[in-house]
Amino acid sequence: MPRVTFLHSNGRSGEVDENISLLDAAKEVGFRLNHDCGGNASCTTCRVEVQAGHEHLSEIDFDEQDLLDREALTEAHHRLACQARVLGDVVVRVPEAKWENQKTTATEAWG
Ligand code: FES
Repeated sequence: MPRVTFLHSNGRSGEVDENISLLDAAKEVGFRLNHDCGGNASCTTCRVEVQAGHEHLSEIDFDEQDLLDREALTEAHHRLACQARVLGDVVVRVPEAKWENQKTTATEAWG
């Protein structure tokens, strides 16, 4: 099973099922990752920066690339966690700024 690591002050790491999205992988390892649009590639709140294992993620499809381009997130390491599927070990950084006003704990968020 692939190991996915979320680098963040509340980061988590763990093994997850292959071919699930990074967003679902976050849920599996107990890490709360924002996903305001519900995983429909329309908000970018699930954006992560791939630090290692870029080749172990599914290729960017048109919808993901289009949204990243519109938000000027054009560097290759930017991915939408709701769209990128896990194919092998990967390490991603979650920008801290997205969490500044979050008061929900991981337990509250994921039940
Ligand atoms: S959850 Fe909105 S783009 Fe991924």
